Amino acid sequence: MLRIDTRVRLQDGHTMPLLGLGTWAAKAGGETRDAVTSALETGYRHIDTAKMYGNEQDVGEAVRASTVPRTEIFVTTKLWDSDQGYDAALEAFDRSMAELGLDYVDLYLIHWPVESLRTDSWRALEQIKADGRARSIGVSNFSHIHLQALFPAAKERPAVNQIELSPFLQQRPISEFCRSQDIQLTGYCPLAKGQRFDDPTLTEIAAQHGKSQAQVMIRWALQKGQAVIPKSSNPRRIAHNADVFDFEISADQMECLNALDDDYRLCPDPMSMP
Ligand SMILES: NC(=O)c1ccc[n+]([C@@H]2O[C@H](COP(=O)([O-])OP(=O)(O)OC[C@H]3O[C@@H](n4cnc5c(N)ncnc54)[C@H](OP(=O)(O)O)[C@@H]3O)[C@@H](O)[C@H]2O)c1
Repeated sequence: MLRIDTRVRLQDGHTMPLLGLGTWAAKAGGETRDAVTSALETGYRHIDTAKMYGNEQDVGEAVRASTVPRTEIFVTTKLWDSDQGYDAALEAFDRSMAELGLDYVDLYLIHWPVESLRTDSWRALEQIKADGRARSIGVSNFSHIHLQALFPAAKERPAVNQIELSPFLQQRPISEFCRSQDIQLTGYCPLAKGQRFDDPTLTEIAAQHGKSQAQVMIRWALQKGQAVIPKSSNPRRIAHNADVFDFEISADQMECLNALDDDYRLCPDPMSMP
């Protein structure tokens, strides 16, 4: 049975809570600190940030100030594109750790597959993991082509691929490849930023459960075995998005949601990247 703190085992043996809080566009300062604090109080145990979001410092402050033990909180951050390359990635990781004020992160991701540098960046991530400063390492926005190209040079395979996923964008080739390689998927933009809440099928299934469209989208991801990181800076919506553990989408309803895939993409397509 799925619960707010349900964890999935990654191929490196560590575990990751399936539900996390996204923080893209959460403003640095009180907005991010309050969102993270509110999420931890609600029972979230996974926080997703990135160097590029400009709020690592506030995420770190809220994690350190929390009464929830550090060992129970899963923190992800990401290597930005302009910091890719072996030495640059090591230096960028040091800067992220200084911002976060933490001894380790649970997951460090290459944010985007920058051509010609990503293999060197991956070697740096392997070093960071070997040093124990990131428990797990992974990638984001990698297509199956990028992953297949990385494997021969990699000592370690990515434990996670964080990609854009919602009922309206299911990225089947990448998703199926990751499943076949035991690479855990994390879905970002799981609410499609609220832009498809008027879909009639989604609306009907939500009404059948007395839930919102947002809650059905999050529950759909969880039932597919994806980690999911909806973003909100609003304490009421942070709690609302975690109130998805008292209902189950039926197999028939899952099929109807699976049929909504119409390639509705809000971020760049990894397949278009060399
Ligand atoms: N790896 C990558 O390249 C990448 C790219 C994009 C995102 N991400 C990560 O994934 C996270 C989630 O993606 P996202 O933030 O782009 O999109 P999202 O989670 O699909 O949508 C967030 C938007 O929906 C609103 N919202 C949240 N809950 C709601 C609800 N229950 N009802 C109505 N509106 C609601 C939020 O506003 P309020 O804050 O006002 O509630 C915000 O404007 C990001 O925050 C980030 O951590 C990663």
